[in-house]
Order: sequence, then C-alpha cells, then structure tokens
Amino acid sequence: MITFSLNGDSVSFKGDPNTPLLWVIRDDFKLKGSKFGCGAGLCGACTMHLDGAAIKTCVLPVAAAANKKVTTIEGLGNPEALHPLQAAWVKHNVPQCGYCQSGQIMAAAALIADKPDASSDDIDQAMSGNICRCGCYPRIKAAIASVAGNSQSYDATAVEATS
Ligand code: FES
Ligand code: FES
Repeated sequence: MITFSLNGDSVSFKGDPNTPLLWVIRDDFKLKGSKFGCGAGLCGACTMHLDGAAIKTCVLPVAAAANKKVTTIEGLGNPEALHPLQAAWVKHNVPQCGYCQSGQIMAAAALIADKPDASSDDIDQAMSGNICRCGCYPRIKAAIASVAGNSQSYDATAVEATS
C-alpha cells in the first residue's frame, strides 16, 4: 500500500505501484483538474507538485509519491481564496480551451514559490515544458510576470498585436 498526502489529506493506494500518479489522482481520487495530454512527459498537461516541485505525473509511478506531498490544482486555491496566480489568470483572461491550464498554473506556482521575483528568463525556462495548443503563451507569461512583480518586462498586448 502506498500512502501519501493529497492536498493536505493522507490517502492510500492499494493498486499496482507502477500505475502513473495521474491515473491514480484522476481515476481513484476523482480529481479531474489535472489532464492527460501526451502521456509521455512532453506536454505538461498533467503537472502537479511533488513536495513542492512541478512534476509530470503521466510518467511518474505512484510509488514515487510514497510518504510525500502531492498537490493538484484543486489544492492550490479555491474560489473564495484564489492563489495569486489563479487571480492573475482571471485578470489576464488567460485560457482559451483551458485544457492545458491546470498544468500551466502548477508549473508557474512551483516557480513562484521557489523564485517569488522570477525574471523573464526564469519564467521562460520554468514554463518551457508546458505546451498550449491554443497559443496562449503571451497571456500566460504576462500573468506570471504580474505575480512576480516584473510586468514591465513583458507586454503581452504588444506581442499579441504583432502576432
Ligand atoms: S500528459 Fe503528462 S506531459 Fe503530457
Ligand atoms: S488553452 Fe487550449 S491548450 Fe492551452
């Protein structure tokens, strides 16, 4: 049996320890915010936090989460108390179809927790593994930059106007 913390609650999984964490979170614990995109660690749609680090859970065996803290988008904030990035996402009207967005926010949240004043380059590096088929990248970056306090370093409006 594998026991871990899921959004602050202690939970256990009795199935195959090689089951990808994403499957366990979605199918066994019924938290559907984290998405299946590529299943190969290439798109970031499945990003969660493992002990605070952004991790692609479609390729992570649930056994790797044993005795660790897993945080999903459902544990990051709530409608009454949004995480600053979630509030920025709303303000910047970031999503288009929305499919990639929980993974984008979780990747950004790990960055901001590690580097609250993340630079433009820090943001580019941290977000390089998260793909958005809708091409929301300018608004994603603008939202992160606003939380990092360096909005002046990136003008999404100007980028979108020229693209
Ligand atoms: S679904 Fe996990 S990286 Fe694409
Ligand atoms: S908002 Fe559609 S894939 Fe990113």
